[in-house]
Amino acid sequence: MIIMIYSFLFSFIRITTTLDTITLGQSINDGETVVSAGEVYELGFFHPGKSSGRYLGIWYKNDGEKSVAWVANRNTPISDSSGFLSINVQGSLVLRKNSTNEIVWSSNASTTLQNPVAVLLESGNLVVKDENDNNPDNFLWQSFDYPCDTLLPDMKLGKNLVTGLDWSLSSWKSKDDPAPGGFTVKIDLRGSPQLIVRNGTEIHHRSGSWNGLRFTGTPQLEPNSIYTYDFVSTEKEVFYTFDIRNRTVLSRMVVSPSGYVQRFIWNDPTKSWLSISTVTLDRCENYDLCGSYASCNINKYPVVCECLKGFTPKSLGEWENLNWTEGCVRKASLNCNHSDGFLKYEAVKLPDTSHSWVDNNISLAKCEKLCLNNCSCTAYANSDVRKGGTGCLLWFSHLLDIRKLAVNGQDLYVRVAASEIDNIDPMTQLSEKKWVIIIVTCVISAMVVLVLGCIIFMRKRKYCIQDNSRDMNKNNEESEKDDMELLIYDLQTIADATDNFAHKNKLGEGGFGPVYKGTLMEGQEIAIKRLSKCSGQGIDEFKNEVILMAKLQHRNLVKLLGCCTQRDERMLIYEYMPNKSLDYFIFDKTRRELLDWGKRIQIIGGIARGLLYLHQDSRLRIIHRDLKVSNVLLDNEMNPKISDFGLAKIFRGDQTRGETNRVVGTYGYISPEYAVHGIFSVKSDIFSFGVLVLEMVSGKRNRGFCHTDHSHNLLGHAWKLWNEERAVELIDEQLDYSSNSSEILRCIHVGLLCVQQGPEDRPNMSTVALMLGGEGSLPRPRQPGFFIERNLTESESQSSKRQLSSTNEITNSLLEPR
Ligand SMILES: *[C@@H]1O[C@H](CO)[C@@H](O)[C@H](O)[C@H]1NC(C)=O
Ligand SMILES: *[C@@H]1O[C@H](CO)[C@@H](O)[C@H](O)[C@H]1NC(C)=O
Ligand SMILES: *[C@@H]1O[C@H](CO)[C@@H](O)[C@H](O)[C@H]1NC(C)=O
Ligand SMILES: *[C@@H]1O[C@H](CO)[C@@H](O)[C@H](O)[C@H]1NC(C)=O
Ligand SMILES: *[C@@H]1O[C@H](CO)[C@@H](O)[C@H](O)[C@H]1NC(C)=O
Ligand SMILES: *[C@@H]1O[C@H](CO)[C@@H](O)[C@H](O)[C@H]1NC(C)=O
Ligand SMILES: *[C@@H]1O[C@H](CO)[C@@H](O)[C@H](O)[C@H]1NC(C)=O
Ligand SMILES: *[C@@H]1O[C@H](CO)[C@@H](O)[C@H](O)[C@H]1NC(C)=O
Repeated sequence: MIIMIYSFLFSFIRITTTLDTITLGQSINDGETVVSAGEVYELGFFHPGKSSGRYLGIWYKNDGEKSVAWVANRNTPISDSSGFLSINVQGSLVLRKNSTNEIVWSSNASTTLQNPVAVLLESGNLVVKDENDNNPDNFLWQSFDYPCDTLLPDMKLGKNLVTGLDWSLSSWKSKDDPAPGGFTVKIDLRGSPQLIVRNGTEIHHRSGSWNGLRFTGTPQLEPNSIYTYDFVSTEKEVFYTFDIRNRTVLSRMVVSPSGYVQRFIWNDPTKSWLSISTVTLDRCENYDLCGSYASCNINKYPVVCECLKGFTPKSLGEWENLNWTEGCVRKASLNCNHSDGFLKYEAVKLPDTSHSWVDNNISLAKCEKLCLNNCSCTAYANSDVRKGGTGCLLWFSHLLDIRKLAVNGQDLYVRVAASEIDNIDPMTQLSEKKWVIIIVTCVISAMVVLVLGCIIFMRKRKYCIQDNSRDMNKNNEESEKDDMELLIYDLQTIADATDNFAHKNKLGEGGFGPVYKGTLMEGQEIAIKRLSKCSGQGIDEFKNEVILMAKLQHRNLVKLLGCCTQRDERMLIYEYMPNKSLDYFIFDKTRRELLDWGKRIQIIGGIARGLLYLHQDSRLRIIHRDLKVSNVLLDNEMNPKISDFGLAKIFRGDQTRGETNRVVGTYGYISPEYAVHGIFSVKSDIFSFGVLVLEMVSGKRNRGFCHTDHSHNLLGHAWKLWNEERAVELIDEQLDYSSNSSEILRCIHVGLLCVQQGPEDRPNMSTVALMLGGEGSLPRPRQPGFFIERNLTESESQSSKRQLSSTNEITNSLLEPR
């Protein structure tokens, strides 16, 4: 408590700080500090950005940008050259123009305090109180009751049910105008209270109801070392609030003029605000994207919406066009008696609770009964997830805005007709007794099958590369021998399957030898990579690929079935991909037409997921080092699968980059820091991915790209067009640009971010996945790496290689694209 505005019987006002005494109305210029409170906040007049209007506000004192936390006269800027703040005998703060004395804003409080004073507290709260009374309950007026766009620690977001005060946030109109803009953040009290972000009157985003630990739609809200948070719901007030654990840390929650709800903490070393969480990042965060009775799953991008079980799209045509607004309807209508049942959805964000009913004192079993007894009840769930789940939440309307969550989701029980339960999942209706019987039977039969299976299996097959597994353990202590169990195929079997490696069965020639198609006796089709004896892929690369592939299981990675190492042959047996590789389509004039934009974005999404798995989600951290269009294979549904792990590197959990003096990879896809300095990291794969994305959008190869106007490669060309705002010209003319424009341009943007010169500028794979799926704004890309190396003539090419060689021993292993 450092400053005070004293009120005297006349409207004669002074502000006292510990250092200074200023008489208000005396000489207050733009931005001049009127008062300051302790270390953190200042109260004064300011004019934001380009605006010429003057506002009274509270901002952070030590923040270079003077981020404003509160504004008094949001709607009525002072147009005059100076303002004048006073407190009258009733205890009302009054803001006037200096010249005319015209009132611009008033806090409208009115009571008869003995000695009303205005104080800016250390918390950033401007209060009017009796001079000697420090009880917060007796404050006559406080700025915390009138939030603008910022929620500070200890501030409440919600509603006072006694006084009717509405503690909600509203964005600024723009960064130059603090007037209330389109976006508001509010606790909506209908049904079970929910945190809702609105754009005008429309719901933009719903964080959902409080489940004891967090809002159901904010799985990222977890106990942490920076701040605590709480949700209070009593008869008098309902609010969310947070507090800082260590008062020296600054944190604020802000709704931006474009509708992002961000939490910032102050990073003292860099003197800047760090955004630590942002709501509304991906498509599924858009309210009601999927319509009623559907669930949104971002992992299925771009087809993120799915009807709940027992429901079907209302309009199939629109649904297939990815227009989900109409939502889903029941396949069979409810009987409205006790024959209806419930299907359980695990790990979801609960639907909109504005038409729901809650009782925190009822068990789940009783909850189910209540729901069955009321014909209009559509679903139920626990209202509180603590203590294994308590309380009852019932829905009496269409179920809207459900989303599948990866973590911290809740269980939802959706009412369906008896016939649907029988159709879909007979298991869910079984009583516990039957369950026990079924489980016991299953376990016994499984054991019998397992034992028999093992005996047969051990007789028929031997195991592959057991002796090699030990030295690979050096690379990866985690590796267990069990992981190495791969089928070993007999050379004769493979020779038979490929007609003795007949030319007609040859699928192509890889960097390390030919690839054949084979058909086993059982009719299973396989692909065989036969390493040529003189190939660059030695025994090391071979072992590498076998061991890596055996451990990796992901739908966007090609599956290794086994190997064959008889005589001096070394062969890898893969699942067969009927649709060849992506380059077979994307660089071919006619076949390219088969890949419309929907397919292409699906393929890009699949590759991104495969790469994300390699980089982050598998047990190992793997860098592929040779990602390119020709290493992406397509199955019969054109799902992409990353292949060719001969050059991949395993990293230990904490290692983030490696160095090598043997640079391997493919021109056109290789990142500058790797080609020049031999430094590789996940960011080198990101570079290759970026090249691949730009190739997918343009239908042109990066290397070998030529243009009449300049000598840049595809990256340079894309960069040039981007800067000239002509990025549209990059797009393959065979794509339907008009109906997908924003998605395609977004893809180009992401591609350019991935190929930036500095590895540290490139996003990581999880960010890329979010960017591809999201709609938020993206950073501006910087100059790409390697953008003028295309079309090298033979001698230039030699010299560029020599240049590379000066820092590294460049071996023949820099492969030409195949
Ligand atoms: C405020 O008004 C008074 C008289 O009305 C004038 O003398 C003074 O200069 C004004 N202050 C500013 C900062 O304009
Ligand atoms: C104070 O009251 C006046 C007159 O009733 C009104 O115009 C003004 O908007 C009120 N100010 C605030 C901050 O509510
Ligand atoms: C907010 O609503 C306006 C008008 O309805 C619309 O133009 C704008 O795109 C919306 N903004 C967002 C981020 O949805
Ligand atoms: C708060 O943070 C400051 C600076 O980091 C530190 O010196 C202080 O010990 C912390 N206080 C508490 C109570 O943790
Ligand atoms: C989606 O479907 C609705 C209802 O059929 C229709 O009104 C709307 O125009 C469609 N939106 C688009 C983008 O096709
Ligand atoms: C429920 O209603 C359906 C049709 O309305 C009827 O066929 C069925 O027998 C009823 N079941 C029970 C348990 O009452
Ligand atoms: C909750 O239920 C218990 C037992 O049924 C009862 O004793 C208690 O009063 C109830 N509490 C409330 C708040 O209704
Ligand atoms: C079912 O619940 C709704 C909403 O709570 C209520 O209005 C209605 O009266 C209930 N019907 C029965 C039969 O209990």
